Amino acid sequence: MSTSGDEHARWRARDLAALWHPCSQMQEHRDGAPLITIRRGQGAWIEDVSGKRYLDAISSWWTNLFGHAHPRIAAAIGRQASELEQVILAGFGHPPAIELAERLLSVAPPGLGKAFFADNGSAAVEVALKMSFHAHRNQGRSRDLFVALENGYHGETLGALAVTDIPLYREIYAPLMMQPLFAPSPDAYLRGDDESAEDCALRAAEGLSRLFEQHDGRIAALILEPLVQCAGGMRMYHPAYLRAARALCDRHGVFLIADEIAVGFGRTGTLFACEQAGITPDLMCLSKGLTGGFLPLAVTLVRDALYEAFLDSSRERGFLHSHSYTGNPIACAAALEVLNLFADEDVIARNRELASRLAQASHAIAEMPQVAESRQTGMIVAFELTPDGSRHSSYPSAERRGRRAYHAALERSVLLRPLGDVLYWMPPYCLQQDELDQLADVTRHAIAVACA
Ligand SMILES: Cc1ncc(COP(=O)(O)O)c(C=O)c1O
Repeated sequence: MSTSGDEHARWRARDLAALWHPCSQMQEHRDGAPLITIRRGQGAWIEDVSGKRYLDAISSWWTNLFGHAHPRIAAAIGRQASELEQVILAGFGHPPAIELAERLLSVAPPGLGKAFFADNGSAAVEVALKMSFHAHRNQGRSRDLFVALENGYHGETLGALAVTDIPLYREIYAPLMMQPLFAPSPDAYLRGDDESAEDCALRAAEGLSRLFEQHDGRIAALILEPLVQCAGGMRMYHPAYLRAARALCDRHGVFLIADEIAVGFGRTGTLFACEQAGITPDLMCLSKGLTGGFLPLAVTLVRDALYEAFLDSSRERGFLHSHSYTGNPIACAAALEVLNLFADEDVIARNRELASRLAQASHAIAEMPQVAESRQTGMIVAFELTPDGSRHSSYPSAERRGRRAYHAALERSVLLRPLGDVLYWMPPYCLQQDELDQLADVTRHAIAVACA
């Protein structure tokens, strides 16, 4: 008779024989690191082939918004799949893409007027970089530099990785890539002992200003993650930085690209993070939560003036960029249902209450001796682990404390996926109080194990 453990072992063996997993050192799995075969998801939970369940505290790489297998999104996908599954978007359109573009533009920061679809976050960033460079060219300016923030992350394709500042992902490919200018991060974790988060942000903005002065007339665009540098360790910053960056971009004729791929769709407490600074970027990249975590889809929203810079009788002055599955109808139908859910269930207001419960639940963890900082922006909570609980120290990275926490949490049925030594919660919005209690208990346990 086969047991559920045998079942899991069989899948694990087949997985190891055939799959190469993303962002992974496969040798660790060959040496026995967990490799878990998931067969279904429901609400905030995913379930493996042996029936063991895991609380998905990271929304499956920050994609899921309303829970796994949400019936309304699943039904919308089913309806669309039997109507029109895919069609070329050049020279053709379809109702879901048209309606989605209209509705995104109606809820986005005011002033964004056109939607260009792609099929993953990195591609939306590539679109934004190429568009901003090309728009300057079309208007007779030769600007070949990009500015990005230290500790920022924008994806893995060569352009998006070039404007990323995380050495673990970037360094090996550096010889292949364009070299942007990196401006100081406004990250409030780096504030001086007597400095407020706002002063720290404004100090970083002065660094940005100096960079703009030095390279005046050569910078095409500034790209940043508004309010939270997610892959860089859920590092958070004051909205004053965004206002200062907007003003500097205006002064120097630099396009501002807001990469809201991770922070969009309510993660920071507002539908889009830029709202908290009251700014409108020139280009805004969205993906991940766009389809509620069901299907790959991305979009770059742009101002009309930028779009108009491409209108011409010459073909070459058009934006000749495409991906085969750009604006896929099924993915657009999922995204439309996501927007329906935001409207029907007043999600942003409901999330305010969940955000305050997340804050409550984080208090006991914040007091642990190795937690240097517990921080929160909306629905994102992060805990920074250091040996003595001070912001001025860190564990040697070879000790892989975060990794230890990951294993300890998995054993207790919670999926946390620390970024270095930063543990964080970015749960689906359907998280219930008993699930949050379990998440907080397991996080405390995982930190205790990791820091022992
Ligand atoms: C801020 C940000 N930009 C871009 C990306 C890349 O998106 P994708 O993984 O869909 O290519 C990510 C992914 O985590 C992200 O967090």
